[in-house]
Amino acid sequence: MSSQLPIGVFDSGVGGLTVVKEIMSQLPDERIIYFGDTARVPYGNKSQETVIKYSRQIARFLLSEKVKAIVIACNTASAFALETLTAELDVPIIGVVRPGARAAAEVTKNGRIGVIGTEGTVRSGLYGTYIRELRPDVEVYGKACPLFVPLVEEGLHDDEVTELMAKRYLAPLLAKSVDTIVLGCTHYPLLRGVVSKVAGDGVTLVNPAYETARDLRELLAEKDLLANSGTQREHQFFVSDGAEQFRAFANSILPCEMIETDAVNVKVFA
Ligand code: DGL
Repeated sequence: MSSQLPIGVFDSGVGGLTVVKEIMSQLPDERIIYFGDTARVPYGNKSQETVIKYSRQIARFLLSEKVKAIVIACNTASAFALETLTAELDVPIIGVVRPGARAAAEVTKNGRIGVIGTEGTVRSGLYGTYIRELRPDVEVYGKACPLFVPLVEEGLHDDEVTELMAKRYLAPLLAKSVDTIVLGCTHYPLLRGVVSKVAGDGVTLVNPAYETARDLRELLAEKDLLANSGTQREHQFFVSDGAEQFRAFANSILPCEMIETDAVNVKVFA
């Protein structure tokens, strides 16, 4: 396996771009091939079986593009499909849940952590499992926030409707006096401003993307797969629908200009 091959990153849609942004910043020599399953978003309300099926299709697509490693930049897919894909695939693969759990376990002072995410991620209870592996004394409270994803996709990052929903979603966590909230969905870092305003200064927000990029670096170093410095970076972005809309969104949050996005039908790889 050549270290000059790209890294495959995928999400159900645009949310994984928050992870891409962090990988670009921490691993500037790496080339990225991104797949956003915009035709089938959201994953958050789907069954584990369906999320595994979709994730498997996308992994096959990324492998056909000859990636050297895969990052599941989606909490729901990480919670539901990482174990299966790890067992099935020959490339190194990481998700975002374990790195985020570790960061939360390190950050909390009062031992009360809130996890916000999709219904699937919260239902899986995986953040709690991983956090308690590190800190058995900690209490973890999950809260699904299903309307946050469409609010992000509609670009309502800083809107009164979003703030109203944040107040409603965070109330039960704040009532438990959490001092840490994990942004357990890759869309949510885009709502950081509103969530932080509602949660207040006493609450630290954890974005698992930062720790995921750090773990990716360690994993690549361990496998001797870090790209040489000064490598030519030409990232590629694929989606299953709405390429133009995706491109506009990506250009609003990524540090590089995306010239074109290819639409690919992942069912071809089923
Ligand atoms: N980005 C996905 C995640 O991190 C949420 C969006 C969805 O429901 O597909 O879980």
